[in-house]
Amino acid sequence: MTKRLIVTGRGGTGKSTFAALTVKSIDKTPLIIDADPDQCLSSLLGVNLEEKGVITVSEAMYRIQKGETDQSVDSMPLSQKIDYLMQFSCLYESSEFDLLTLGVKWTRGCYCAPNNALRTLISELASNYEYSIFDSPAGLEHINRRIISRADDIFAVVDPSTKALRNVERIMNMAETVDFSYKNLYTLANYRFPAENVESLQKMEGDVEYLGKIDSDSKVEEFDWSGRSLLELPQDSPAYVSVRRILDKAGRVS
Ligand SMILES: Nc1ncnc2c1ncn2[C@@H]1O[C@H](COP(=O)(O)OP(=O)(O)O)[C@@H](O)[C@H]1O
Ligand SMILES: [Mg+2]
Repeated sequence: MTKRLIVTGRGGTGKSTFAALTVKSIDKTPLIIDADPDQCLSSLLGVNLEEKGVITVSEAMYRIQKGETDQSVDSMPLSQKIDYLMQFSCLYESSEFDLLTLGVKWTRGCYCAPNNALRTLISELASNYEYSIFDSPAGLEHINRRIISRADDIFAVVDPSTKALRNVERIMNMAETVDFSYKNLYTLANYRFPAENVESLQKMEGDVEYLGKIDSDSKVEEFDWSGRSLLELPQDSPAYVSVRRILDKAGRVS
């Protein structure tokens, strides 16, 4: 069964960077699902989706709703249409990772009927991979929408703010109130987190484990700025080394 890893946290904390470095760390080709309306994961991985003619799931749903699909697709039943577009228009495939971007319209809007079909299809797609990695906004909206109903690991990237800590508590409460289950909830101190304050994460109450701090790395910003894939970071990059150490603790790399 696919191992589902969710990376969550507030905007700007470094969750997409962590997700990209997770791809670099695991030696399998994962499915990445970019569920953040920010949708910047592709550029951190050095891919220009527009140039490749790859569209977001929300764009595909929009085209279906407006009847703007190709003639060959028009006659298909709804779930088949979504499946077809997801496979052939939305999924970016490479030897290092496959990537599905949900997009803004879909994450903000509500297309309730297609959502049911989409949920099943995303789950079926993910089952083809050993790992699926969800890059997700802090509110875990897609969980509220029940697009995912279970996860193996949730990595909450925490910046030095009380709001970030409250978000972690919210995840614990949410799992109790909505139909969602996970095996492990981990906190990670983000690259701006003062090392002397990590005690607050180590001592956090509840079923949550602190795995370590993501080290600050000027090359991450340099690569981000110049549009270079984070997969090309050197092996001794502090950010990469710290992410590997964290994933090792979680038992995801050896
Ligand atoms: N380990 C790190 N060291 C230095 N800068 C980082 C690190 N991780 C992220 N950043 C920078 O922080 C900013 C936000 O990172 P990003 O991963 O896009 O955050 P999020 O996905 O949570 O919004 C980017 O400019 C990125 O280059
Ligand atoms: Mg992001």
